[in-house]
Amino acid sequence: MSTAKKEYKRVTVKSLIEMKATKEKISMLTAYDYTMAKIVDGAGIDVILVGDSASNVMAGHETTLPITLDQMIYHASSVIRAIYRALVVVDLPFGTYQGNSKNALESAIRIMKESGGHAVKLEGGSEISESISRILTAGIPVMGHLGLTPQSIYKFGTYTVRAKEEEEAKKLKEDALLLEKLGCFALVLEKVPAGLAAEVAASLTIPVIGIGAGAGVDGQVLVTHDMIGMTHEFSPRFLRRYLDLYSEMTNAFQQYISDVKSKNFPSEKEQY
Ligand code: KIV
Repeated sequence: MSTAKKEYKRVTVKSLIEMKATKEKISMLTAYDYTMAKIVDGAGIDVILVGDSASNVMAGHETTLPITLDQMIYHASSVIRAIYRALVVVDLPFGTYQGNSKNALESAIRIMKESGGHAVKLEGGSEISESISRILTAGIPVMGHLGLTPQSIYKFGTYTVRAKEEEEAKKLKEDALLLEKLGCFALVLEKVPAGLAAEVAASLTIPVIGIGAGAGVDGQVLVTHDMIGMTHEFSPRFLRRYLDLYSEMTNAFQQYISDVKSKNFPSEKEQY
């Protein structure tokens, strides 16, 4: 059954803000390639994130840090060729926006020009406010990302829940307000207590999209390969697996190997 919504021809940053105002939850999933993006978009997703999680999922790195701007542009341009409805947000990778707002603007412009993405996402709050402001001056929509920010993994040391302590929760709330004031159109909140996330969502007019942030936010995002069970070594509490593709694909590949070895494939009908 198709769940594509007919009321929005194309999802835009404006339609997301309207969805928050009308209390319609926003759905967001990752995609890094044409084929996956075509399926996700065809299913009716609101937002596709070309996440720097491609560094883990597609390239097998332990962290998101190694992925380059050129690689993100490659992934994003493949996704853009597939979509007709979703808003496509592209992560600015580590090292392309922190500490130098001119560099940040140049990186964001390259993403927009060379991939055709619709918006960029940056991790961090007040520390990167200059970079966010400068990107916004070029008319490029910016999505923020607070809470667990994987590009800072070596500062945190672990992927555990963030902002459980009062001081960090206070900074997160201030950063969320700042991102809205600067002009971000939405915010991802990753792995923070549900109560805090709900409080942040209620304090903002821009949508807050959660991953491991509970049900009190304005939308949800998951990494597609995790939610369809293609990956199986990563099982955080917030992850709901809708399929077990790892097992299904393994079975299919084993069946194929067996068919080839036993000369059961190809059959008479499968040749010319
Ligand atoms: O890179 C990514 O996939 C992300 C999501 C986890 C929000 O940033």
